[in-house]
Formats: sequence, structure tokens, C-alpha cells
Amino acid sequence: SPPPDPNRHQRYDEFQPVKHYVQRMTEGLWNYHEDLSVLNPLGFGSLAWMFNGATPGETLVARYGEPVFIRRYNDLPMTEDALIPFGLPYTTLHLHNAHTASESDGWPGDFVGPGEYWDHHHAMMYARNDPNEALASLWYHDHMLDFTATNVYAGLSAMATFYDDIDSGDENDPNPDALRLPGTYGKYDVSIILHDVRFDQFGNPAYNVFDTDGHLGDLITVNRKVSPYLEVEPRKYRFRIYDGGPSRFYELGLADESEMFVICNDGNLLEEPVSVTSIVLGPANRHDVIIDFSRYSVGQSVNLLNIMEQVNGQGPTGRRLEGPDRMPVMQFRIKPLEGPDNSRIPDFMRKLPHVNLNEVVAEREWVFDHDMGLWTINHEFMDPTKVSAAPRQGTAEIWTFRNAGTSWAHPVHVHFEEFQVLEWNGRPPTGVLRSRKDVATLGPGDSARVFYRFDDFLGRYPIHCHNNVHEDNAMMARWDIIPNGG
Ligand code: C2O
Ligand code: CU
Repeated sequence: SPPPDPNRHQRYDEFQPVKHYVQRMTEGLWNYHEDLSVLNPLGFGSLAWMFNGATPGETLVARYGEPVFIRRYNDLPMTEDALIPFGLPYTTLHLHNAHTASESDGWPGDFVGPGEYWDHHHAMMYARNDPNEALASLWYHDHMLDFTATNVYAGLSAMATFYDDIDSGDENDPNPDALRLPGTYGKYDVSIILHDVRFDQFGNPAYNVFDTDGHLGDLITVNRKVSPYLEVEPRKYRFRIYDGGPSRFYELGLADESEMFVICNDGNLLEEPVSVTSIVLGPANRHDVIIDFSRYSVGQSVNLLNIMEQVNGQGPTGRRLEGPDRMPVMQFRIKPLEGPDNSRIPDFMRKLPHVNLNEVVAEREWVFDHDMGLWTINHEFMDPTKVSAAPRQGTAEIWTFRNAGTSWAHPVHVHFEEFQVLEWNGRPPTGVLRSRKDVATLGPGDSARVFYRFDDFLGRYPIHCHNNVHEDNAMMARWDIIPNGG
């Protein structure tokens, strides 16, 4: 295949790739669970769309300062030949929420059809060259206009892990500045992505394309396995926990309600670890938590449970599941310790980047509502040709996201830039909200007032609800970063 075309990518010469990946998206069979496989007359497994034969696809491991180039081939069957009945075999891949130039970011209107490919260039630069802007836990997924929920549900999602000198992925790092969080190049640093799935009588994922409120599955899958277990040593682990959607909200805790430390919100290190007994996630939210299994003895096990009640795709009810209604997510089984635990739970992690309100040149409001049977932003439907906001490169703005709904929740997501919460429902943020984020999960009537700075690249990006079913039913808008001056 042809070599990369540097002219297609902003600042390619400055950030020449040192790591190259090739991925092929195909339709095939995936083993969600042994019991499901035998039911499927098509073979051993459930129908899936995958990256290089797996879902989730391979975890992308990248380091700041080492630019990445990914060529992705769409080898899915043509629409009329696809066995998955609900997706659209056109793709556009988004590395959520990397600081990526627009042409590599997976614009929802970039239709890459069967037999075609797309090149993605990731500069792996800190935004504005500020190391405090580093990101840790990201993921990549399809972003096809009107078909994101279905294509991701079919299997087109995977995780990404970014490291730098501070969050280096090595608990034995001799660098005195390194945080030495749990992990030694993947070991003790475990990424898990949750997708709730409903299976039909053949063991294939079932999906109702007519329900525009959202899609709920009855089984929770962890890395596309139904309620798996993981053998863990009696020591500290870092778990990067992702809500992969399409529409389910979670409150996750250990069955014995023991302590966990949140260290990252949406892939951004907090200033200080926050001690909790449960974490709340909406679609696309991520929390990195440290769990210390040294309180258990070998042979014991402990379950991770979901206690958030949700009865339809609109959002959670606000009630908690009790007793046997709590949904099992996965099980940890304690095995013998293999060596010393040199990891730490640091007192301080990474400073939040400085917010200078004097830089603010504009303030905008984005209202998330329901009009004429579809989901809207500022009472308009998604129109990929309409530019709803055009901030200038090098400037800062304050954006307010407001959920006008009375009974539904909207996880609001903006590409490219992280925001810092200034006010949540009119009050200064506390706990895990004192952070940089890329998804503001708004319950009925909630609002978030946030600070953004736009820099480094130009082009078009979306703002959308990350309940993927709302997103596919028009709850998205386009905004562009335009050159300053002139
Ligand atoms: Cu996770 Cu617009 O994406
Ligand atoms: Cu929504």
C-alpha cells in the first residue's frame, strides 16, 4: 500500500511518527462466553466487528514525545453481505480524547467504506507543550454519522494508554519525579471496558434500531466477556475502568464495600487520590482506581458489582439496586504474591493546568434537549455542514452545558480539548470533579460551566451526547478551530 502522505496531516514534519500500527476491521465470530458459543449455528462464537480479529482491539500503548501513525483498513463486508444486521459497514475512527488534528480525529462525516483505508497521525504532544496537560487512559471507537451506537455495539471499540515521565507505567522507575503508580509495563495496570449486551437466541448481539432513547443490554461484558474473573495478587493494582456504552450508567463498587482510590477522571490525573467505596460512570466516562488486594488472603474472591438502577435508555432512575438485584460485573480471585509491591498511592499527582480567566474571549451555552421527537443541541439537529461555534486558535472560552431534560441524562463530550470545571450546578467542583475532563455527565436539570483553551491544530470537531443512541439521533453539533488574526 502507498506510503503516508505527509501533506494530509497538520504538523507532520514536526512530529514524525516513530510507531506504526496497521489495523484491519473485519466481520467474524467472537467468544463472549462459552455458553453462548454453542447456541450459535454459524460457528463457535457471536457475530462481531473487530480490529485484527479481536474486540476490544489491541490496546494502543503510546508515550508522549513518540508520535504514532495508524493505517486502518475497512475490510468489513458490503452492506448487503454483512451478517450483523444493524450496523453500517462504513467507519471513521476516533481516538477519544487525544489531542489530534482534525483530519486524523475521525470526523463523523469521513465515510471510509469497505475496501478503503484511512491514515491517522497522532503527534503525542502535550497541549500547548504543558506536561500538566498529559492524558493517561483513552479509547478508540468508530464514530460513523448516525451509526456510532450500532458500530461500537458490534465491536468497534478498544482502549489506549498514554505514558510520560511522571505517569510512566513503571512502579520501579528510578526517576525521582515518577509517581510509581501500580504497574510494570501492563502488569498490575489493567484496562477494562464495559459494554452491556443483549443476545438473541443464536447468541448474537441483538439491537433495536427503533428505540431512540438508548440501548440497554441485560448482561454486562468486561472486555467483551460476560462476567469474567481475574486472578490478582494480594497487592495494589491500577484499574482503568471505561464505560463503553452505548447507554448504560454504572455505580461500581466491591461487594464488601471496601475502599478504592480514584486517581484519574476521564484519563486525567487528579491532583490528589480520592478515597471512595464506589465510582459513578456515564457512557464514555473513565475512572482509574487503585485497589489494594493485600487485605484479602489467597483463595478468597471479591466481586465488582453495579448498583445503579436503570430501566430504559434515557438514564438512571436515581435509585440503587439492592441485594440480589445488584449486577455482577466481574470477580477478583486472590492468588499468591509473586514479588514485592513497589507501587505507591502518592499524596500528590499532577497539578491542574493554570486557569487564567483573563484569556477568556467568549462565553457560549449549549442546551441539550428533546425537540420534535429527536435529541437536539441548542434546539438544532446535527448538520455536518453547519458550524455552530468557531473559536480562534490560541484563545480561551467558557462553555456552559445545560441539560434541559427532566427525566434523562446526557454525557456531554467535546473532542480535542479537555475542560476544567469552574462550576457544577452553580457551585465550585469538589472531589473527583476537581479535574480536567472530556465528558460532563449531566443528570436532569444539571449544568456545568467549564473552561477551554483552543490551540495547536485547526479544523472541525464535534460536540455531542455520548449516549451513542442520542448522538445518532441528532444530538451533535460541529464547531471549528479557526486561525487567529487576519
Ligand atoms: Cu468517544 Cu465523539 O467520542
Ligand atoms: Cu443524551
